[in-house]
Formats: sequence, structure tokens, C-alpha cells
Amino acid sequence: MSDKKRIEELREQIRRHDSLYYQKAAPEISDQEYDRLFKELEDLEGKHPKWATPDSPTRRVGGDPLEAFETVRHEVPMLSISNTYSKEELVDFETRLKRALDLEGPFEYVVEPKIDGVAVTAIYEDDLFTLGATRGNGVEGDNITVNLKTIRNLPLSLPLKKMGLKKLEVRGEVYMTSEGFTTLNEKREEAGEEVYANPRNTTAGSLKLLDPKLVAERPLQIAIHSFGRMAMSKETEPKPWDSHSKLYERLAEMNVPIVPDWSVHIGMEGILPLVDEWAEKRFTLPFETDGLVIKLNYFRLRENAGSTSRSPRWLIAYKFPAEQAETTLQKVEIQVGRTGALTPVGHLEPVKLAGTTVARATLHNADEIERKDLREGDRVLVEKGGEIIPKVLASLPDKRDGSQKPFRYPTECPSCGGPIVRPEGEVVHRCENIDCPAQLRRRIEHFASRRSMDIEGLGTKLVEALLDQGLVKGIPDLYRLQKEEVAALERMGDKSAQNLIEGLEQSKANPPSRLLHGIGIRHVGEHVAEVLCGSVRDLRDLETKTAEELEDIEEVGPVVAQAIQDFFATEHNRRVFEDLADLGLNFNCVSDSSGTAPLDQVFEGLQFVLTGTLPTLTRDEARDLIKQRGGKVTGSVSKKTDYVLVGADPGSKAEKAENLGITMISEEELREALTKGF
Ligand code: IVH
Repeated sequence: MSDKKRIEELREQIRRHDSLYYQKAAPEISDQEYDRLFKELEDLEGKHPKWATPDSPTRRVGGDPLEAFETVRHEVPMLSISNTYSKEELVDFETRLKRALDLEGPFEYVVEPKIDGVAVTAIYEDDLFTLGATRGNGVEGDNITVNLKTIRNLPLSLPLKKMGLKKLEVRGEVYMTSEGFTTLNEKREEAGEEVYANPRNTTAGSLKLLDPKLVAERPLQIAIHSFGRMAMSKETEPKPWDSHSKLYERLAEMNVPIVPDWSVHIGMEGILPLVDEWAEKRFTLPFETDGLVIKLNYFRLRENAGSTSRSPRWLIAYKFPAEQAETTLQKVEIQVGRTGALTPVGHLEPVKLAGTTVARATLHNADEIERKDLREGDRVLVEKGGEIIPKVLASLPDKRDGSQKPFRYPTECPSCGGPIVRPEGEVVHRCENIDCPAQLRRRIEHFASRRSMDIEGLGTKLVEALLDQGLVKGIPDLYRLQKEEVAALERMGDKSAQNLIEGLEQSKANPPSRLLHGIGIRHVGEHVAEVLCGSVRDLRDLETKTAEELEDIEEVGPVVAQAIQDFFATEHNRRVFEDLADLGLNFNCVSDSSGTAPLDQVFEGLQFVLTGTLPTLTRDEARDLIKQRGGKVTGSVSKKTDYVLVGADPGSKAEKAENLGITMISEEELREALTKGF
């Protein structure tokens, strides 16, 4: 098969698998197989840049980080929906409609879940996705086209021409599934980062990120629920739909993700029982919902009903009441996580709520406890709304009998007695002692995990046994273990003890970036660890770097710099580092871990900036080629820049380089210079 045909075939296959995965939740292939198809397409497109198309799945993520979002004006304002919490008001809504339309009814409605997400609009013109924007104030929003492109279930093109359409603006909610949100938080915990509070705010925050590469890492999805402007190719052509249900059917045919579980009903009477049905059913949806939206089905009637300045008269949202219950806050327990984050957890007298028995609730942090004046023994109001975790809403001070004392947040770690710090600007308190027993178990598991030091045979059970027997009191102790003492542990034999000792021995030679990741400094995940290792000769050099020096390293910002400084501020942590070096672990960041001879430093002292899509190299590959030869790659063009490597669709950096008279080179020119320099 010709490369051209294969490219087309791969694009089709990837789109199909995206749809199976996101729309139908029925994937047919594994993630690895998907990645393989994607890589093959990337390679072929790299080989034949002339066949690149803007709607190829490979074009979802790309471009430089933006400096700011442009403002866009919505051609049709993005209005909101009037809310109600009562069935009576739903009946009133219908009465008002009858009056406004001067019709007896009954009307046809579409009922569908109200997704607790972030409203956006997506414009398609001549079959291509051309503009995406946030709702903003309803009149003007931010141009977030590059961010929306990263959302894998949003089509990058639509067969509009076939329907006689020139332009179509669809609107919907961007959201995270409950599962996607949980996985994201697990990964953050793993990297020692703070977990996010709820999917909606995290979605809003994700869409505001200026770097589309970061947005692509967030598990965002979209569901379309309405449309803005549309234009037919010829004025005279009939519109392809005259009702909401037809619109959904047509959109679904084009593989546009629409709000799931919609249904058509005649008359409000038939909808009232549905409201009760959904009070439970909502918890079975894969995303958070806070209500139902009830929409008049026929567009002609909608036009006649009109809008107020805030919301159309033809639809209404029925909001589910958050279920509440009263119970006793028996005790506040402070839990210590792997990274030392302290989380207050409320133990409750068990109470039935939203279909489950609730006995615990997160109290978030010290500020929240103080703000709500929560005291042990208090009667409290708990609520379970859309969120999975119940929350304590308020205490009921009138019900106190005098035995309840204001809660004092501990000043020492409840697990190790070590000091507690609260980093500036953060709400979470932390224990900074790396060997705090509560943290230690999870720290060691992380240190031994596949993506860190990958120590064969060191699983959860064994870590627990080693800690229980007092054989290990800190990470360095692992490397001091004797085969005999390990073999003497329950369920261990000579053979497994030998395997562990060998596994540990082998891990000593791991690249230092794995060691750095394994140590578990906050915000230092796999990638940051690699970046940091690329900037020093020996891992211990990180100890003496000032915050400014750390921030000078590309991709290192103030948060990472501060986390590193906080880590080394503790003497104990510095000792752990020294111990590991003495025990023979690999701290050497200079030697090439692949064992090949170091390359000639032909780019020594030169500064490069990359912009645009390169014909064959990814950005990371280009960066590595430069760095391996002693060059430096920075994020923005300045007078200090020596060369700007320019690919297709370059950003503003190319313009700036031109203004400053900086030499611009192509990938080919870079390749030519790799051995002899410029
Ligand atoms: S229809 C006039 N359908 O809720 C707006 N909106 O609180 C017509 N929302 O800004 C929108 N789920 O972004 C519609 N199934 C749904 C929805 C939905 C969530 C959002 C929408 C709107 C907000 C109003």
C-alpha cells in the first residue's frame, strides 16, 4: 500500500478508535495498539510533510505555549438557563410557555442531564474546526482553540458540506469523567503534587492553561448540547433539522459527542416522575451532574418564545437538591500521606445519605475547620451533592452542650512528632520528615515502583514486613539489608531474599533521574527529574543551587524550585542523599547512561530556541540532539539567542527572531551541523 493510502487509513482508524473509546465506551484495541497506530501515522506524516492536514489526529497537540488568550465576541450570545428546585415551578414554566406562545399545548420537550462542566463553543467552517472559545461573560470569551483541539472526542472536521452547511457553531460542556478525575489525582499523588478538589474546577483550570501540551495531559471530554450560528451553503437550502431531537440525531451521525441519555416527552406531566427517577439515576452517570435540562423540542416554537437578557424562555433547569443529613462529628483524625500532606478526616456517626451510609468525610484543611468552627462532638450537617465524597457543610452550634471544644490543629506530625510546615500560599500543612513512619511505607513503595527504581520483588507486603520488623527505618536501610535477615521474614525463603538483594544491587546503577524521582520530592515527577538531571553534573549539586539558579533551568518554575529548596532545607533529607551516595547509588548525571562515547560538544555555549512543527523530529528529540552536544535550549527568543530552529506553522518566536536579526535554521541545517558545528 502506498504511504498516502496508509496515512488516510490510519487517520480513519484512529478516529474510529477515538469514537469507540469516548462515545461508546467500548474500545476494541489496547492503549499500546492505539499508540502504535498513532506513532506510525506520526512517522509517515513526518516523512511526507506535504500530506499533513489540519484535521489529522496528530495535529491535536502542538504549537508553542500562548502568552495570553485573545478575546472573541460571540456572534450569538451564550445565555444561561433559569433554574428551579421544585416540581411546581416546572408546571409554572409550562403555563408561562402556553401564555407566551398563545397555544394550548401539550408541547414536546427533550429532557437530558445537566452536565456540571464548563461551557464552550466550537465553530466549524468549510468542514474544519476553526475556532473554540469559552463562554466568558456570555458576550465575549477567550479564544481557546488550541486547547479544545486536544480534546480527543471533539472532531477536528465535520462533513457539513454534505448537509448543505457552510458553517456550524456547536456549544457544549467540557468535563472530566469521575474516573478520569480520580486517575488524574492518583497520578498527582504519585508525583507528590497536591490533589485537585473537584472535576469542574479542575476542568475550568485546565482550559485556562496556556500550554496546549499540558492541556492534552488532562482527561477532558466534551458533550454538545446546543448550537450557535449556522449558515447554509445556499440561502435557499432547507435547514437539516427543525427540532432538538433531529439536531442530536444528525450530530450523532457525524460522530459529534452529544449529551447522553436524552429523551423526548410530551407535556410536563410526563416529566415530573422522571425528576424523581433521576434523583438516583444521576449517580450512575460517568460524570457529575447537578440537574436536568428541559428544552422545548421544536425550534419554530423556541423562536416565538424568545429570551430575556439572561436566559431563553424555552428551557429550564431542574436542579437536584443536594441530599443532606444531620449527624455527629465524633472525631477529627489527621492523616499523613506519602508526601507528608496532612488531611483532616471527620469520623461521623454513620448516617444514610444519597443511597449510601456515610461514616467519614474530608474536612479539607485547617482553614475550613476554622471557618466552619467544627468541633469534636458537634452535631453537623453533611451533604452529598454531585461529588463523590460527602462534605461537612456546617456545625449546629445551638445543639452544643458545652463539652465541645474548638479543634486545635496539631503543630507536630501525629505520626512522627516532627515539625509541621505550611508552605507559603498553600492551604495544606505538611510534615517534612522524609522518614516519618506514616509516609515511609508509601515512600518506599514509590521508590521501588516500576517507574522509579524498579526493584524486583519489593512489593507492598514485603515493605510492610520490613518496616514492622524494624529492619528498615529509611530508604538507605534498604541497601543495608542482609540476605539472612530478609530470608528469616515470614513467607520469605532463601531464593526470594536472594532476588531482593540482587534487585537492590542492580538498581544502584539506574540513571540518577530515576533515583531523583524515586526519592519523592514534591512536584518532581519523572519528566522534571530528567530535566533536573540534565542541568547538573552530580545529583548533590541540586542541594547548593539557589532558587534563582533552579528557575534558570528550562521548564523549572518557582513551584518546583521551592519544593527542591524545602526538601534540602531539612538536614535529615540531606543525610539520606549522602547515605545513598555512600552506598554506591548512581548520582553521576554526566556520563551517558547508554554507554556510548560522549558526543563532541560542537554547540558548546550556543543558545537555541525551537518553534513550529519540524518535518521529522519531535521537539523533544531536537532538544536532546542539541543538549547532547553542549547547546542550551530556552523557551523564548532574546538577544542572547544564537539560533532559532524553525518548523512549519511557526509561532510569534520566528517573528521576534526576524526582528532581532537572529539566524533561523531548518531541521536540515541543524542535522548538518550536528557533527561539525556551524
Ligand atoms: S443547553 C441557553 N444543555 O449549563 C443555554 N446547557 O447553567 C442553552 N449546561 O451555560 C444550553 N448541561 O453550558 C444545555 N444539557 C445541557 C447542559 C447545559 C450543562 C450548561 C450550559 C449553560 C449552563 C447554565
